[in-house]
Amino acid sequence: MRNIHHFQKAKLEQTKITLVTCYDYTSAQIIANSEIDAVLVGDSAAMVMHGYPDTTYATMDMMVLHTCAVARGLNQKKFLIVDMPFLSYRKSLDQSLNAVEALIQAGAQAVKIEGVRGNEMLIRHLVESGIPVMGHLGLTLQHVHGLGGFKIQGREKNSQNRLLEDAKSLEALGAFSVVLECMPVALAQTVTNTLSIPTIGIGAGLHTDGQILVLHDLLGLSTFNAKFVKKFMSGQHLCLEALNQYVKEVKEKAYPTEEFSHE
Ligand code: KIV
Repeated sequence: MRNIHHFQKAKLEQTKITLVTCYDYTSAQIIANSEIDAVLVGDSAAMVMHGYPDTTYATMDMMVLHTCAVARGLNQKKFLIVDMPFLSYRKSLDQSLNAVEALIQAGAQAVKIEGVRGNEMLIRHLVESGIPVMGHLGLTLQHVHGLGGFKIQGREKNSQNRLLEDAKSLEALGAFSVVLECMPVALAQTVTNTLSIPTIGIGAGLHTDGQILVLHDLLGLSTFNAKFVKKFMSGQHLCLEALNQYVKEVKEKAYPTEEFSHE
């Protein structure tokens, strides 16, 4: 998966698209050798890498730094999408374009923008400027305070209609794909069947065109335990075991042996 055309092709061929978040060089090197289709430097970096309570703490400096590291690690082997952080696209068209410029020059090949209302002009301008835009609807964490917390979205008819309209707007504006986060399965399925661009789900069930998970969640490295998160590895447990084994061997003078020492 090296460009946006592969996203469209996957939707047409009904092949699932797989994405994962990434924030650092070493993880990016591992992902580069995996079968993952594309990578997102998510603003979840603020939470996962920096310990903040939500993504409103992500800054442009933070996103640029993580993007540079991930781009070096991926070495062009995966399509790289980067989140525009909190308010970086809400101040003025000029400032938004400067933010996009910084992310693209850091190594992003596409940007992700949360929500659509009020962002129409920017999205159109970016698409016309040849910059792929991924939309993001549902639980958009940059709106966490306005949404009243981390809640499943689209449970009521009104919000379902609104979300479907927003999804259609994104497609009309030229977005190449849209993330659907934390919503009922049936709503994600309706959006997926309505749009001709691919939907990427997280906490949105089985019927989206692709899935994305936070790397540290799927590896079991984080302590985040949402219903939709499957831990494909017991990362915390494995890391603790390795750390404690290291301590044990140092204390017992079993490490470093000759094998690990210079003459
Ligand atoms: O920042 C992030 O990790 C995201 C995903 C949850 C889609 O936006």
